[in-house]
Amino acid sequence: MKILVTYFSQTGNTRQIANAIHNEIVKKQDCELIALENIHPEDLKKYQMIFVGSPIHAGGLAAQVTAFLDSIPIDPGFTMAAFITHAASVYEPASFNKGVKAFEASAAQKNIAFHGIFSCQGKLTTALHDFVKASKKLSDDEWEKRKAEFNQHPNAEDEKMASAFARKIIEDAT
Ligand SMILES: Cc1cc2nc3c(=O)[nH]c(=O)nc-3n(C[C@H](O)[C@H](O)[C@H](O)COP(=O)(O)O)c2cc1C
Repeated sequence: MKILVTYFSQTGNTRQIANAIHNEIVKKQDCELIALENIHPEDLKKYQMIFVGSPIHAGGLAAQVTAFLDSIPIDPGFTMAAFITHAASVYEPASFNKGVKAFEASAAQKNIAFHGIFSCQGKLTTALHDFVKASKKLSDDEWEKRKAEFNQHPNAEDEKMASAFARKIIEDAT
């Protein structure tokens, strides 16, 4: 089985999880890791399974990932799993549900068997700290608490859970 791990990542969190998933799968399978911006629709024909990763932007998937999912034809000949990173410790806890649903809906619409989704807390880029702190009306103390929490992710434990997620999917499929 030939497998692709692809992702969009603005600040590195989703790439870190993509790496962990790829490192796990490549131990036993033919697996390539390619950033989304380097994928051409024609390339997808050679895979039997793809893992697609996105950061959560404004509660949904990154626009680049939405465009990629839209470009997949119906019945593409591969199955799909997904992974997201988010900063839900400073956004609403459920702020990534729209992204999860978008992956599920896209798979259903394209008649793609969907293996599930792995979600993981990520750091929030410092460029957004002041904006998010103000828009969520967080006190200095509360902000520092949440910052200390999100700054720890993704960590080694997250990578381990991402690996376990990928391992289970591959085991179930082979
Ligand atoms: C423009 C923008 C919007 C974001 N919106 C959300 C959001 O609605 N909910 C959330 O939980 N995280 C949000 N985040 C945080 C990112 O999802 C999180 O930091 C993610 O791990 C970034 O992944 P990356 O490093 O791969 O780009 C946003 C980040 C950016 C840059």
